[in-house]
Amino acid sequence: MNNLNIDWNNLGFNYIKTDYRYISIWENGEWDNGKLVTDNTLSIEEGAPALHYGQQCFEGLKAYRTKDGSIQLFRPNKNAERMNQSCDRLLMPHIPVEKFIDACVQVIKANEKFVPPYGTGATLYLRPFLIGVGDNIGLKPASKFIFSVFCIPVGPYFKGGMKPVNFLVSDYDRAAPNGTGAAKVGGNYAGSLIAQKKAKANGFADAIFLDPATHTKIEEVGSANFFGITKDNKFITPLSPSILPSITKYSLLEIAKDYFNMEVSEEDVFINDLDRFSEAGACGTAAVITPIGGIQMGEKLHVFYSETEVGPITKKLYDTLIGIQFGDVKAPEGWIYKV
Ligand SMILES: Cc1ncc(COP(=O)(O)O)c(C=O)c1O
Repeated sequence: MNNLNIDWNNLGFNYIKTDYRYISIWENGEWDNGKLVTDNTLSIEEGAPALHYGQQCFEGLKAYRTKDGSIQLFRPNKNAERMNQSCDRLLMPHIPVEKFIDACVQVIKANEKFVPPYGTGATLYLRPFLIGVGDNIGLKPASKFIFSVFCIPVGPYFKGGMKPVNFLVSDYDRAAPNGTGAAKVGGNYAGSLIAQKKAKANGFADAIFLDPATHTKIEEVGSANFFGITKDNKFITPLSPSILPSITKYSLLEIAKDYFNMEVSEEDVFINDLDRFSEAGACGTAAVITPIGGIQMGEKLHVFYSETEVGPITKKLYDTLIGIQFGDVKAPEGWIYKV
């Protein structure tokens, strides 16, 4: 414990109010300079398009405390770029990459005491978001936008070692073929809550979503991307325009290829052809790498490596990824941003 009353070793993924958040307003075609505030509530117009028509998007990234006590971000420019892709899809103004990163850095520095110590596995999770506000009633893009970043200390996904979990294939879709699946917009998540509820009620960690057009291919694993290791040691991850392009997934594609000399590929992953994989996992900022024990589809449970043990390739990818993120393993050029 510490004077914040936070037990760093037992943090989950729960809201904790930290001291400062960043807020900036876009109006009349431009952003203001932005500032840090202490109030964690927002006051917005009752007609705000974010409230009625879901004109909003968000991001998620982490700040890591390294062994020497410094703080670093993992590829924050990629989150900024993805946020701007979400903005394009919902007709919202871009946030310049430098403004996005500066906002994150200001929030980290102002809340430095909340960045968990090295060695606990805990991190400071940053949640940038953009909402369309202003007086409005008809369906059209907002006239005013609020960009904000707040932060929360969060625990490692696994306490006491990596454990595989099982997933349930959902009958619901989280995205449509030409919809917003590749954008990080709230509507995708609201639409997936019912699938998550059903999966959890049946004892599964989360839902697996298939491609919305044919329901034959794996797209997303809860709020994470899927990867599989084939029996001949290839790293495979699904390719689809309705998947959220996971920064962790793209990083693992490079790590598998450049650190472990594996063949890698983005391609269709058919739900009826899982026997080709010896291991499988879910990857994302929150999930990091979560080994998939098995996937239940209808009456059948397909088990990959084991329901209780993590496979060796998954383990070594995980060790390298978190080694890079916490500064213990040399990162590829440009991946680490020192705060
Ligand atoms: C639906 C979905 N898929 C995948 C991911 C993983 O993306 P990333 O690795 O960039 O966190 C996330 C989390 O952001 C997500 O919400």
